[in-house]
Amino acid sequence: MISSKVIVVFSGAGASAESGIQTFRDSDGLWEEHRLEDVATPEAWAADPDLVTRFYNERRKRIIEAKPNKGHLQLAELEKMASVKVITQNIDDLHERAGSSDVLHLHGNIRYSKSSGPNQEREYYKIDGWELKESDRCSEGYRLRPHVVWFGEAVPAYEEALSILGLADILIVLGTSLQVYPAAGLIHYAMKATHKYIVDPKAETLDVPADFIRVKGGASEGIQNILPELKKVLSL
Ligand code: APR
Repeated sequence: MISSKVIVVFSGAGASAESGIQTFRDSDGLWEEHRLEDVATPEAWAADPDLVTRFYNERRKRIIEAKPNKGHLQLAELEKMASVKVITQNIDDLHERAGSSDVLHLHGNIRYSKSSGPNQEREYYKIDGWELKESDRCSEGYRLRPHVVWFGEAVPAYEEALSILGLADILIVLGTSLQVYPAAGLIHYAMKATHKYIVDPKAETLDVPADFIRVKGGASEGIQNILPELKKVLSL
């Protein structure tokens, strides 16, 4: 029987680490190799859109080649037990490819592009394959940019994420250093009664409220370890 309880997963780059996608802030992270100011800001786009396009084309190529890992698959499996809503900071589509049916992308989805003109959130365009081309244009004639939220930009899905957080009977925070706001602030909006877990190799040091249960470990191992407890909570 499927429980009427709601599980909310709030994931970050660590959820995709076991799929071979680099995180951002670990010692081998993406921001060790690139200056984020050069590739992930509106200023970077204004200065050199070709460079930014190439940077995300490269990311997209790797994401298309990657496969969902056991952690993603276990989260998708949870849908057999309860309603599962994933809020991800990740721009990859590995949760969806693992079978999760309800995924909100807080920071966009790299498989899509959007206008670089004034009406950016009006329409998202699926990119065919890995390459967004310099000549690709939106219906209003503006150059297409990756559908990614850059540093310094608003997070259009934030309000929706807040209301999802408020529904959680169980919250699983997975693989995020909780350093980027406003996303990181979301975890404070779960109800007092919500059963809260943080799964991360650095779980012991991450800045979460006292009612979080810290589960030290990678995504697949960590989710596996909390499964018995989740089942217990769902049966209450
Ligand atoms: N399983 C689970 N977590 C892991 C694993 C793993 N195998 N390997 C590393 N981690 C954890 C790290 O310990 C760290 O806490 O994943 C987290 C990754 O943190 P960040 O690299 O800071 O990524 P994230 O929190 O998702 O970044 C937030 O920053 O650059 C922006 O927009 C980008 O959405 C991103 C945002």
